[in-house]
Amino acid sequence: MKILVTGGMGYIGSHTVVELSKAGFTPIIADNLSNSQISVLDGLEKITGTRFAFYPIDVCRKDALNTLLADHPDIQGVIHFAAKKAVNESVVNPLLYYSNNLNSLISILEVMIEHHIPNLVFSSSCTVYGQPDVLPVKEDSPVKPAMSPYGNTKQIAEEIISDSLLAHPLLRAISLRYFNPIGAHHSGLIGELPLGVPANLVPYITQCAIGLRSKVMVYGSDYNTPDGTAIRDYIHVVDLAKAHVVALKRMLGNKQKSSYEVFNLGTGIGLSVLQIVKTFIQTNQVNLPYEIVDRRAGDVEQVWADTSYANEELGWKALLGIEEMLASAWKWEQYYRTNNKQ
Ligand code: WQD
Repeated sequence: MKILVTGGMGYIGSHTVVELSKAGFTPIIADNLSNSQISVLDGLEKITGTRFAFYPIDVCRKDALNTLLADHPDIQGVIHFAAKKAVNESVVNPLLYYSNNLNSLISILEVMIEHHIPNLVFSSSCTVYGQPDVLPVKEDSPVKPAMSPYGNTKQIAEEIISDSLLAHPLLRAISLRYFNPIGAHHSGLIGELPLGVPANLVPYITQCAIGLRSKVMVYGSDYNTPDGTAIRDYIHVVDLAKAHVVALKRMLGNKQKSSYEVFNLGTGIGLSVLQIVKTFIQTNQVNLPYEIVDRRAGDVEQVWADTSYANEELGWKALLGIEEMLASAWKWEQYYRTNNKQ
């Protein structure tokens, strides 16, 4: 069965393509390569033995989507990853985020309706919760005013999906609210491509460990947490990818309790920045200089998931621990630098 994977050359998208293929699906990849490289297709082929159909298109463009769908009229579902996701960039350039992230979703929904494709898995984010009042955060925790235009595009996107489903009974969707995806496929052949200076903690750590950066700046040690540094729920990208296949199968198997469902994808374990830094050093036996500096504007103090709904209702649970997450991230960094000499 063919599944359209928009943003399938990206970090989470590429790992999901692997899991879809392992589960017997045929992923059709659409990606404009704005945050990826064509070499990802080689990595996917090495892992799966399959050269996936790849369309280098901007999914905001309906004409390009219609060309793809004319080639593949038997697509039964869409996993929509394609979006810009850098929080700080969204603050500097909000219109780029509103236009790209919302127009791509609208185009996808329109072609799904026009081509009678019923099933949508949407890539959402825990940023919709802002700083939760109660932790761990549940799916029915209040969605709070977004702390960035990026986070706002995810909130608005979920509303667009919800409203579209009410107007078009054919459609059904599952939004997956990711916590902090890190790590890489155990082969080291795919991972989070480090294009530019990493905003996220773990890619910055691995670039320090390999000598590309001098030290890790720990943003703030005066938070109201055990060691003063901010807490997040880090989840292995492979566990996250597997959840997308589970969600897709739930819809294909008509197992949904309603046509629109939302699930948190986390581990339920909150870890601080210093815990990540120290675990990385211990797990990988590397030197990792770090310095405590001021807080980063826009960061929430602490957030981690209540995973009971996803565990019980979706029948999915994150299995990989923080050591495997950080070991695989380090393996990917070493593989990438060895094979992409700059
Ligand atoms: C994690 C922690 C930083 C870098 C972002 C997006 C979110 C989601 C996941 C898409 C924070 C600290 C970071 C550094 C540091 N992406 N940090 N030094 O901000 O929790 O979430 O990625 O959905 O939408 O907002 O992830 O990795 O940037 O930060 O101390 O060099 O590490 O302050 O506490 P974040 P992050």
